Amino acid sequence: MNYGHFSDDGKEYIITRMDTPSPWINYLNNGRYFTSISNNGGGMSYFISPLHGRVTRYRINEVPHDRPGKYIYIRDNDSGEIWSLTWQPVGKHLECYKLAHGFGYTRSEATVNEIESSVLFFVPKDDDQEIWKAVLKNTSDKPRNLSVIGYCELALGHALVDLINQCDDQHFNRSFFDKDLNSIFSTKTYWVTQTKGTQQQENKEWDQFTFFTVNHPAASYETVRERFTGLYRNENNPAALELENLSSLDTDFGNVVNALKVDITLQPGESTDVVFTLGVIEKTKSDALKKERTEKYHDISAVDAAFKKLNEDWDEYFRHTSAETPDENLNIFLKYWMPYQAITAFNVGRVASFYYWGIGRGFGFRDTAQDSIAITISDAEKAKERILLLSRQMRTDGKVYHHFHGDGDGEFTQHCDDPLWYMLAVTEYIKETGDTEILKNVQPFLDEGKEGTVLDHMFAVVDYAKNNSGPHGLPLFGRGDWNDTLDYIGGDEGGESVWGGMFYAAMFKLFMELLEHLGMMKEREAVSFVRKKMVAAVEDHCWDGEWYIRAFGGKGKKVGSKENKYGKIFLNTQIWPVLAGFKNHNRLSIALESVRKYLDSPEGPKKCSPAWKEIDPEIGLVTRCVWGKKENGAVFCHPTAWVIQAETMMGHGNRAYEYLKKMLPDRIDSDVFVAEPYVFSQYITSNEHSGPGRASHSWQTGSAAWMFRVSFDYLLGIRPTYKGLLINPVIPAHWDTFSVNRKFRGTLYKITVENPQHLETGVKDVFVNGKHIDENLLPVFDSEECTVKIIMG
Ligand code: GLC
Repeated sequence: MNYGHFSDDGKEYIITRMDTPSPWINYLNNGRYFTSISNNGGGMSYFISPLHGRVTRYRINEVPHDRPGKYIYIRDNDSGEIWSLTWQPVGKHLECYKLAHGFGYTRSEATVNEIESSVLFFVPKDDDQEIWKAVLKNTSDKPRNLSVIGYCELALGHALVDLINQCDDQHFNRSFFDKDLNSIFSTKTYWVTQTKGTQQQENKEWDQFTFFTVNHPAASYETVRERFTGLYRNENNPAALELENLSSLDTDFGNVVNALKVDITLQPGESTDVVFTLGVIEKTKSDALKKERTEKYHDISAVDAAFKKLNEDWDEYFRHTSAETPDENLNIFLKYWMPYQAITAFNVGRVASFYYWGIGRGFGFRDTAQDSIAITISDAEKAKERILLLSRQMRTDGKVYHHFHGDGDGEFTQHCDDPLWYMLAVTEYIKETGDTEILKNVQPFLDEGKEGTVLDHMFAVVDYAKNNSGPHGLPLFGRGDWNDTLDYIGGDEGGESVWGGMFYAAMFKLFMELLEHLGMMKEREAVSFVRKKMVAAVEDHCWDGEWYIRAFGGKGKKVGSKENKYGKIFLNTQIWPVLAGFKNHNRLSIALESVRKYLDSPEGPKKCSPAWKEIDPEIGLVTRCVWGKKENGAVFCHPTAWVIQAETMMGHGNRAYEYLKKMLPDRIDSDVFVAEPYVFSQYITSNEHSGPGRASHSWQTGSAAWMFRVSFDYLLGIRPTYKGLLINPVIPAHWDTFSVNRKFRGTLYKITVENPQHLETGVKDVFVNGKHIDENLLPVFDSEECTVKIIMG
């Protein structure tokens, strides 16, 4: 079953049937105020942090799911009929609705009971609030008396405390209507700012008011959920809508909701706008500012101007990278949905989604470092900010917080890969911008009173790596590496990560290239020495005949070997030797061939195989997971981007393209795929699962940044280096031509590639602004634009 399609220009995903197999969501945010919204109107909002600054509630494990949300109810005051402007929560008239997810906005349209409606949700760039702009038109031939009721349920501050301390929390909720401002203000008079749930209250209050307002005089309002839904009822048939008016009482008990009711009459053919806005304002702000903020979007021209600005900003963002290939479907992802998901996952920091509730782990160090490569092209300043943030999560011995909620609020774990990802973030940033000054930027270490430059931090990472090796000279596994669920390799005795060895070698290589660029040859040599030992350790001990093993467990027992019953072969250890620049071409080819032979499946290449069907406490969580699901033998989308990269690095354009096509999420049957068809999910159940082909954990995944960058950098082959923009396409041989626009250091490179001989790779001629140049490295220009023609051969 198909529930929707892309618009002709690819800029919207239009859902034509609302009862999708899972909520299909979109993110609206300005980098401070975030909201998620689904085709059901479901979703949550938060300010800055989904843990500490939760604005609205979302009940993740409730039935029915995807509740509550941002709802606008309509009541026909003559017939008594009630419906909502998104299909849910009322849930009637399924066939009357259509919904479009666009970039930074979502629009639901419906014609119910001869009232034509649309509601547009977005977050303006400059204001920390969300706008719900409804337009209603009377298409009948008689006047219509309608009530329009906007509704949301509030969390007011710390999301975990809201969850575990609900009854107590209610003693501290304040929610009251301000008649002059036609707005409800709400807050909580205490605030827990620490990460974990606790009975220990801090001596402070939430520093924000939420406000909920509307551009027509509110005829009545509500602040308490129990009065709105009624007892033993819920959002789909609220008791309050059976009464003429809402109670118009401030909070005296219960869960805080905000509802505002306006009454309108529409003559035949007449239409009107009803704009609700929900936002936050710091408590200390003046009354004048409160007035300004609440009234700003009462003016419809301000709403339209903010929406226009939003669209212009997105157009500007997409101008940084765009592509036209012979594959129309791929183009939609290359031009729009890959960069859109990449920046969204970067902004959200992978912490809040339909699957991640945003109360647990905060930003992951490795995740954040990888996500930063999503943004270097379009917003180097933001990438830099994240790098500096990461710098502050490191100790002088190179150890980093595995995850953190902000400066000084993190947790050390024993994941052996975390610090090394720092190398990727810093080197990518410098290649893109040329800004080596960042290396001199001084940031504190976590050790009291210690600080160092970004370059010092990089050397600290080298020290960490040097001091973290086991009997085979490979990284000590600790409680996981990239693969979190390989958390007990070797049980108590511990083990070594073979992938870790490859990964360290890859990250050292990045650092060595940087040191070379800086002319620091002595330091480069020192790093090279460590790297060589690591590569030798892998080559000497880890080749298993047809592939590289994954780990050594206790007493040197192999994991990911043909000797094992389960998890004989792992994906990452076959592709990372390529990414790390290993030289044994023969082994690399055999390893990639083994990926095709033993791991590839109709859903894509599996993370490992065969999946465990027995628990092995000397391996860990992966073996406890349902087989064919998640890390236990599913198709994990994030490393599939690395498969594509590895194939291109071996010159295999056809294969790389085949893998990429297979991974695109717009699959035919959504009842099988379940998750959104316009963004990558974290994993897809494989043919080792009882129900293969089911995607989960959409949006917030490393696949977002990597699919975007690997497609542009390695398949289309246009990537930044310290000295210029390198052109090295590795494409499917049947492509005659393709073109890419790529912003690089202030210049828009308009590149056309022709492939007259139908090759997978190879650049014969390069013309810049009509002039032939001798290499495929495009220099940095002063001009705004340049035209580049490439002939493959
Ligand atoms: C999740 C984690 C990521 C990890 C991956 C594999 O996506 O966020 O950090 O690498 O799982 O275990």
